[in-house]
Amino acid sequence: MYFFMFSISNFVFVVLLCAINCICGRMFADEGLYPAGYYDSQQVQYDRIKNALTKLEHAPQWVNDWPNPSIKMGQVSGLAIDNMGRLLVFHRARNVWDENTFNDREVYQGIGDDPIPDPTILVLNDTGELVDMWGQNLFFIPHGITVDNEGNVWVTDVAMHQVFKFTPDQRQKPALVLGEKFVPGNTDTRFCKPSAVAVLSNGDFFVADGYCNHRVIKFSPDGTILLQWGTAHGTSPYVFNVVHALTLAEDRGLVCVADREHGRVACYRHDNGTFHSSFSNWLIGGRVFSVAYAPVHGGRLYIVNGPESQILPVRGYVIDFTSGRLIQTFAPDGGLKNPHDVVTSPDGSKVYVAEINPFTVHKFVDEGLRNESLLDKVEKNETATSATHVKPTATVEVVGRAGGAEGAGAGAGGAWQRWSGALGGAAGAAAAALLAAAALALRSARNNGKGREAEPLVH
Ligand SMILES: *[C@@H]1O[C@H](CO)[C@@H](O)[C@H](O)[C@H]1NC(C)=O
Ligand SMILES: *[C@@H]1O[C@H](CO)[C@@H](O)[C@H](O)[C@H]1NC(C)=O
Ligand SMILES: *[C@@H]1O[C@H](CO)[C@@H](O)[C@H](O)[C@H]1NC(C)=O
Ligand SMILES: *[C@@H]1O[C@H](CO)[C@@H](O)[C@H](O)[C@H]1NC(C)=O
Repeated sequence: MYFFMFSISNFVFVVLLCAINCICGRMFADEGLYPAGYYDSQQVQYDRIKNALTKLEHAPQWVNDWPNPSIKMGQVSGLAIDNMGRLLVFHRARNVWDENTFNDREVYQGIGDDPIPDPTILVLNDTGELVDMWGQNLFFIPHGITVDNEGNVWVTDVAMHQVFKFTPDQRQKPALVLGEKFVPGNTDTRFCKPSAVAVLSNGDFFVADGYCNHRVIKFSPDGTILLQWGTAHGTSPYVFNVVHALTLAEDRGLVCVADREHGRVACYRHDNGTFHSSFSNWLIGGRVFSVAYAPVHGGRLYIVNGPESQILPVRGYVIDFTSGRLIQTFAPDGGLKNPHDVVTSPDGSKVYVAEINPFTVHKFVDEGLRNESLLDKVEKNETATSATHVKPTATVEVVGRAGGAEGAGAGAGGAWQRWSGALGGAAGAAAAALLAAAALALRSARNNGKGREAEPLVH
């Protein structure tokens, strides 16, 4: 089917080129594969793309030599950032998803085999070192992964057609399983190659279902269906063609979907599923593999596209949510080949991209956003953090509690609080004091430069 779509889009492209030729008053050549002017037109396309890329800010910046090259991974299908800011890499180890993996009724062809014996979840710290791994003997074809506010890890396996939740203290056995093992379906108890999960701060969660179904399902924490939407046919904004990834914009009350083969990100109210907005761009093209949202500067969508034509580049793009405009682009020096997932820290300062092939993960950083977020935290909480400096233990306990109760709705501030809470007493206090010192130094540097009181950086 994808080949079919691929040739359709090629066909449309050639038709467009022909139209350009006709408009320019040129005639088709009598011989040869391409109409006269084809190569000229292709050059026009390249120039247009190059020009558009030049106008975008090239950010965030790629971090070279990250992660440690000795860390071995297979096809990397999913990424998540945990509440300590560490990266969870969900990969397929020795298994690959190719044309022999499923039959034409979507049934996995390796049902008699053992699950992947290697750890399929790798935990990397900020410097790209492996600090933990688990997820062995559980999965067949890993796909999506996310971490909720309570530190539970949620994953999907497309071979098993299932969704799993793991609590922080039990990594061998899931606390919740949805779907029927190896049985595809389109009912209240069966999925078909579910691709992703997103968990609201109140514990309700969404499942993207997925490759062969065309729906998003909302569940209560115990796994009861609350709501679902999406369809295969028609022309409404509820028509999906591969619901491939999810991200939440809780500050806007939205859940956003990477509607992969429609080349768009579509956002819906998370309380009742009503369509809100849709984002696409000619430069991104007709395939959007994943999306992540950060509530910075009025909201930003981080998007990775995928290989489509020989002409459009495969890259990361950032869309300003409010205006819908493309504002930034990012890629490693060697470019992206087959990006499959993207995640961002809540402050937008760290962005990670997973590739299915080559088997790798890329890190990107935005120093400006990082500085802003450090400053923001201290300015908004100067009294609290100064107090931490004086009476570390007591204050950190308060910070930890506040974080637990607040949830992700608090955005960057919430993330910091959860992080300090998780760090525990002394370490949390030390980190808070360090942060405060760094940000105060920053602010005084800015004040020196401007000779007046600092203006708020975030708008
Ligand atoms: C990451 O882990 C390595 C190895 O345990 C350690 O040396 C390094 O300091 C850690 N980096 C951070 C930022 O914690
Ligand atoms: C969802 O909620 C909004 C705001 O209350 C309302 O305008 C919209 O009609 C609702 N949609 C459905 C399907 O109930
Ligand atoms: C961020 O802060 C660091 C440390 O103060 C500084 O060296 C760097 O230039 C800042 N970067 C940006 C983009 O503001
Ligand atoms: C600042 O700290 C106070 C009390 O510690 C907390 O209630 C408030 O939400 C914090 N503000 C931000 C923006 O994190």
